[in-house]
Amino acid sequence: MFGIEIYIILRVFEFFFDIWLAVVLICRFIFAPIVILLYIINKCRATRKRVDNVEEFLHKQQSWMPKRFSYSELMAVTNNFRDKLGQGGFGSVYEGQLHTGSLIAVKLLENSKFNGEEFINEVSTIGRIHHVNVVKLVGFCSEGSNRALVYEFMPNGSLDRYIFSKESKRQSFSWEKLHEIALGTAHGIEYLHGGCDVCILHFDIKPHNILLDNHFVPKVADFGLAKFYPKENDFVSVSTIRGTIGYIAPELISRNFGAVSCKSDVYSFGMLLLEMVGGRRNSVMKATHSSRAYFPSWVYDRIIEGEDLELPNVSETEDVIAKKLCIIGLWCIQVRPADRPSMIKVMEMLEGSIDDLQMPPKPFFSSSQHNSIREIQSDHSSTELLESDSIVEENSCNDTDV
Ligand SMILES: Nc1ncnc2c1ncn2[C@@H]1O[C@H](COP(=O)(O)OP(=O)(O)OP(=O)(O)O)[C@@H](O)[C@H]1O
Ligand SMILES: [Mg+2]
Repeated sequence: MFGIEIYIILRVFEFFFDIWLAVVLICRFIFAPIVILLYIINKCRATRKRVDNVEEFLHKQQSWMPKRFSYSELMAVTNNFRDKLGQGGFGSVYEGQLHTGSLIAVKLLENSKFNGEEFINEVSTIGRIHHVNVVKLVGFCSEGSNRALVYEFMPNGSLDRYIFSKESKRQSFSWEKLHEIALGTAHGIEYLHGGCDVCILHFDIKPHNILLDNHFVPKVADFGLAKFYPKENDFVSVSTIRGTIGYIAPELISRNFGAVSCKSDVYSFGMLLLEMVGGRRNSVMKATHSSRAYFPSWVYDRIIEGEDLELPNVSETEDVIAKKLCIIGLWCIQVRPADRPSMIKVMEMLEGSIDDLQMPPKPFFSSSQHNSIREIQSDHSSTELLESDSIVEENSCNDTDV
């Protein structure tokens, strides 16, 4: 009897031992490998994700840096420089297309005095500039004496085509749109002055350098190009400050007017605003004797006398926008740089109400000063002006605000 009990206990013990053994074996040979496998898969995934992130980061970094093109690549993407978009002071611009399908504008620089290394340094600086109101530099070429800059293509061309157009193009811009373009342009210039980690003075703000994308969003073009023409010779450090007659600030012509600074671009922007309202170049030399010959002067007197601006078919609201643009423009073209607002202030003025704006002092030289400036300017056969390097040494983005 006792032996049977022991036998049963042993059998039960053996039964549980078998179950325990089976569980251990299953865990060891089935679950453990599965867990280890899952762990390894998970680990691999995490590593791959990290690598992907790094790749993505590097890719992004790369796509933020301008691509270097060989000259033959440029010939291929522009179909042997077939479609010329225009010609400016730096060289010719051609339309092209990358194999990704993106349209580009290739600016072939003529007579750049930079050596290859300096050129690439400068390009990498301006290539890091990214803003919705600034034209993006997508690449460059530096091969022997061939230098080129490759920009994103702006399908609606430059602002001058619209504001100086005799046809109906200008009327296609409502006054609200003109105001929006002015504000966008101000944002772009302000970004160049202070929004990015380097302070870039443009020196050539004018309607031709405000390009319009497919939604007519304005983008500032050709920033940083003044730097590409630094040395005239090895003995005297002479810089070429570029600018275009009619937009160039007085201090760029004579240092007696003040130091060159961001305010020099503010001056050009003011001229641009006034041209947007006037729909023509500010100075019409042929009409020297007419009171309207110099639009800023004419418009100043009209506003001071409380008269309208003789704009055709404008509503009261549109007239207010036009007057606001004029008053801001007149502030920007003050002779003394310190009297001009900073670009941030200009943006505030554009965004604010006309009721908050005061009329600036008359922003002109006495007639003798004006004539002497005109004489200096007309002495230069080209539309660009050259100035001595000593002026630039005082470049600063920190002039006092109005
Ligand atoms: N990224 C671009 N997309 C489309 N058109 C462009 C682009 N860049 C320049 N253009 C066009 O090419 C023409 C020549 O431009 P370019 O900048 O060489 O001359 P500019 O602006 O008249 O003078 P500057 O040399 O003083 O800038 C302009 O009519 C402009 O509309
Ligand atoms: Mg240009």
